[in-house]
Amino acid sequence: MKSFLLAAWILSALLSFSLCQERQYYFVKKFLNWDEAQRYCRKHHTDLATIGNSKDVKQFLDIVSSADDDVWIGLYSNINWTWSGLLNSVGSQYRNWESSDYDPDFISANQFCVCIGDNGGWWDYDCAKKFPFVCYNAGTTEFVAVDEAMSWSNARTYCRHNFTDLATIGNIKENQWVQTLVPTGYWAWTGLYRDENIYWSDKSSFGFSNWDHISNLIGSDARICGATSKARSAKWKFLPCQTRLPFVCYSFKVMKRIVKIKLTSTGALNLSDPEQKAQLLRKLQEKLSESASLKFVEQPKKDKKKTEL
Ligand SMILES: *[C@@H]1O[C@H](CO)[C@@H](O)[C@H](O)[C@H]1NC(C)=O
Ligand SMILES: *[C@@H]1O[C@H](CO)[C@@H](O)[C@H](O)[C@H]1NC(C)=O
Ligand SMILES: *[C@@H]1O[C@H](CO)[C@@H](O)[C@H](O)[C@H]1NC(C)=O
Repeated sequence: MKSFLLAAWILSALLSFSLCQERQYYFVKKFLNWDEAQRYCRKHHTDLATIGNSKDVKQFLDIVSSADDDVWIGLYSNINWTWSGLLNSVGSQYRNWESSDYDPDFISANQFCVCIGDNGGWWDYDCAKKFPFVCYNAGTTEFVAVDEAMSWSNARTYCRHNFTDLATIGNIKENQWVQTLVPTGYWAWTGLYRDENIYWSDKSSFGFSNWDHISNLIGSDARICGATSKARSAKWKFLPCQTRLPFVCYSFKVMKRIVKIKLTSTGALNLSDPEQKAQLLRKLQEKLSESASLKFVEQPKKDKKKTEL
């Protein structure tokens, strides 16, 4: 009996392939604000849409092909302006945006640092941009202009090393003072900045990005929410979270296929032995793509003998 078992090494086995999980998007044509849309998606699907790569973008575009206008996706950002110079928390709420209607405008979702113009108005700008800057010196309680163009973080290092920090502007008088230090026709960095704080609703890590090169008005909102549209090729922007828009949810779609395969072995193999079975799976797995996961599936009871394979 034993020799028969070992000789007949033509086996058939049922294997189930679980290919990688893919996001399945659902376009919901109800007009809800972002929070309501999030609740809807979490109730009926997994969450508001996360778009994690360019393949997702393509699928997403297929789903919203019947929509010309904006739709919510699962993106949001917390807005938390902070002064680099911690010494001066009094008056830290003072702001003098260039235009209260149009600034901060967060163009291309890439402007996290604030500069002051020679007219005293403030702009948010790309922190990598090189501008002269204004430091604060606690020893002399004076603002100090540095007429050397640097990125915001290099300007901060310079101020912290040579003085106290970048300038904190706490009121209109201080703003007028700092304004006089800005070279004519230029901007200068101030100490105001914010961290990116951009998140997906489902807590996926934020890596891939697909921003539209337009402004994203922040106003005085503490949070702004992500939208996109077919008309803008699914490029992202931010809108006030109270806006009522249709939205896109997702669920995970697990692609599963059951296949029957025939195995031929020259050596002795005992498939009643869990360790040998696992080893065989590992060998098969090596031949397949990483995204596929394999396991044996039980065959129907009437076929008891094969089940043990
Ligand atoms: C805002 O940012 C500052 C500095 O990073 C931090 O100390 C503070 O806790 C943040 N506040 C909120 C509400 O996130
Ligand atoms: C301090 O200032 C000097 C010029 O006065 C400059 O060369 C140096 O790089 C500054 N230090 C830092 C850390 O930026
Ligand atoms: C196969 O493996 C099982 C479990 O390890 C063991 O009980 C059985 O004796 C083995 N059969 C042969 C033919 O080696």
